[in-house]
Amino acid sequence: MPKERIITGIDIGSTKISTTVAAVSESKVSVIGVSGVVESKGVKLGNVNDIDSAVEAISSSLERAERMAGVSVSSAFVTVNGSHILTQNSHGVVAVNPHQNSDISSDDVGRVTEAAQAVSIPSNREIIHVLPRDFIVDGQTGIKDPIGMSGVRLEVETNIIHGSSTAMKNLMKCVQQVGVTVEELVYVGLASAHAVLTDTEKELGTVLVDIGGGTTSMIAYLDGSPIYSCVLPIGARHVTNDIAIGLRARLEDAEKIKLKLSLERPDYLSSDKSRRIEDFDVAEFGLDTDSVPRRLLYEIIDARLNEIFSLFALELKKANLTGKLPAGVVITGGGALTSGVEKVAKNVLKMPVRIGYPKGVTGLIDEIQGPAFAATVGAVLYGSGYVKSGALLPFRKSQGKMNFKVSKLLDKLKSFLP
Ligand SMILES: Nc1ncnc2c1ncn2[C@@H]1O[C@H](COP(=O)(O)OP(=O)(O)OP(=O)(O)O)[C@@H](O)[C@H]1O
Ligand SMILES: [Mg+2]
Repeated sequence: MPKERIITGIDIGSTKISTTVAAVSESKVSVIGVSGVVESKGVKLGNVNDIDSAVEAISSSLERAERMAGVSVSSAFVTVNGSHILTQNSHGVVAVNPHQNSDISSDDVGRVTEAAQAVSIPSNREIIHVLPRDFIVDGQTGIKDPIGMSGVRLEVETNIIHGSSTAMKNLMKCVQQVGVTVEELVYVGLASAHAVLTDTEKELGTVLVDIGGGTTSMIAYLDGSPIYSCVLPIGARHVTNDIAIGLRARLEDAEKIKLKLSLERPDYLSSDKSRRIEDFDVAEFGLDTDSVPRRLLYEIIDARLNEIFSLFALELKKANLTGKLPAGVVITGGGALTSGVEKVAKNVLKMPVRIGYPKGVTGLIDEIQGPAFAATVGAVLYGSGYVKSGALLPFRKSQGKMNFKVSKLLDKLKSFLP
């Protein structure tokens, strides 16, 4: 019987916490427990701002998933988000096997990746991911896996994602306080990309945008690998706020109005402005009025979406990626269900747009099929990569980043085991 491991992903969002527990073998990732949506507390704009409340919310999300799965979770891959997250590309170079004359080994790959990490990052920041983009062996570029090749000079182009040490420490503290060890922190955009993007999209060039409640996180791929990430401190909750202000409604009611509108796509809105559209009935919300012109509501929503995508377009420009991503934009996160989101994104970005639903898992997936669950499913898929590649899980770290030396030693140790 194939060996199975339990892998857990916890997505700690600004509006919801979502835990997914899966039994992972080399051939499949089968979900055995989910928490669905548990209201987030103590998290603002992707960052923990109240440890006790966040611990309480994480704990109830975890308990729900554990109860469904019938297992006790001891460790998890946890998403990290927030506008403190930044990215930079870096280059590393080493001589291959300076003491022996043999092929490129995993040891050389480890050394060159470590060399690429020698970038100047302020002391209050920590590396979250070092993602190899391209290996170069004796000047030959475009190599994805150099292990086993001959050569004397090994170079790597990497994309480094880093974040504020304090933000990450506080996040880890919360998870540890519920009795769960953090296997690894995973940038929320990277996690979502694991669940949503296809290999072809990554190869051609694409950008994933996760519109959450409080943040919009992006990750761009070119030639199969991540090249740029950033997080904007604006999200779908701002749309709710605008509706609340516009209608002088309570936030809870504005949220209900927004969700009700999301089910109907206003295709008829764009072209014929003179066409009469039936008013939207808001009698149940006890506002000053019983009905509101639908067009007005759509305009409020479109204005905020327009702002989000314009800021996002500026980021693409900053990263010199405008016009370089032919596979277009994939929108995920709960905000991907906002009424008219595809239309506004297409208008502003002038790129192909699709809504990203999480894929790649089987089992109890009924509750996690929407775009809002891309990050929790992605965190599990990210962790499953270790199982599928036959590697051990990364060593349980006290810090957010993977300790390459320790995991390498563990891999060596594993090779001695029966
Ligand atoms: N059906 C829907 N229609 C419109 N908006 C929706 C729908 N479902 C969820 N949303 C919106 O999505 C947002 C929450 O998205 P999500 O669950 O991805 O956020 P989060 O991960 O908690 O936050 P963040 O990633 O910013 O930390 C909320 O603003 C909510 O109103
Ligand atoms: Mg999120």
